[in-house]
Amino acid sequence: MLKRKDLLGLMDVSAEEIMEILDRAREMKKLFSQEVKKTNSLSGKTVCTLFYENSTRTKTSFDTAAKLLGASTSAISASTSSIQKGETLIDTGKTLDALMTDAIVIRHSAAGSPHLLAKNVKAHVINGGDGLHEHPTQALLDMLTIYNRFGSFKGLKVVIAGDIKHSRVARSNVWGLSKMGAEVTLVGPATLMPFDADRMGCKISYDLDEAVEGANIVMGLRLQLERQQAGLFPSTAEYHKYYGITEKRLAKAESDAILLHPGPINRGLELSSGAADGESSFILEQVNNGVAVRMAVLELLIKG
Ligand code: CP
Repeated sequence: MLKRKDLLGLMDVSAEEIMEILDRAREMKKLFSQEVKKTNSLSGKTVCTLFYENSTRTKTSFDTAAKLLGASTSAISASTSSIQKGETLIDTGKTLDALMTDAIVIRHSAAGSPHLLAKNVKAHVINGGDGLHEHPTQALLDMLTIYNRFGSFKGLKVVIAGDIKHSRVARSNVWGLSKMGAEVTLVGPATLMPFDADRMGCKISYDLDEAVEGANIVMGLRLQLERQQAGLFPSTAEYHKYYGITEKRLAKAESDAILLHPGPINRGLELSSGAADGESSFILEQVNNGVAVRMAVLELLIKG
């Protein structure tokens, strides 16, 4: 069992803990092919999704994961709750404690919000994405997809391409994949590269055609149009020309390379539809693996 109360990011999680989560997720995934997928492993427990930002995949898959484990679920969305009346994050968290919530999955636009919540509540806290900081369960499901396909991480060349600056997914993947022995290259325009990219222990490139050569995994990132300041790239057409992942570009990767993307996709921008729907695309497999990973995380945290 994980010997930690919360899962806030992958920066401080060990390779052994990551492997434990992935192994448990693989066990969970075996349930998916059974007629009755449900277990009662978390029967009597309650999981709450507390989302201050929009989500389809993360929110729904945590909800599905909790239900498949036999837990009860509740959902708070910032737009329809007492958060609108000015309730603080800590007061909301303490209220959830009083409602006997065992685990809170939080998504917030401010980096560090899950850490603040975790310090102030008894419930286990899982980071479902905080600002530009981390999205640990997204990286874990990406890693499960890679592990299931290649059987190991050692020496795999992973290219993470696009809007690195605004990507919590890229950060969590860099920490996680590097710990497991993969070789990570971040690719994007200089204006969309974080200022500390050279301190993250991975390679940096500004040329997607060059970086993708010989890659085993190509991960596209959503261009986060809602977080852009003016002037970071000249036009979306130019962005696609230089940093769009297309079938032609993917052909430069290894013949058994896979394409990943956390979703939602801006079709025709960071990914062409041909690439997104092509044979090497594992994007929907990622979504399915997200349920298994979140089942594993919920069970390991709550039962541990
Ligand atoms: N990948 C991801 O976090 O998707 P959602 O925003 O739909 O949860």
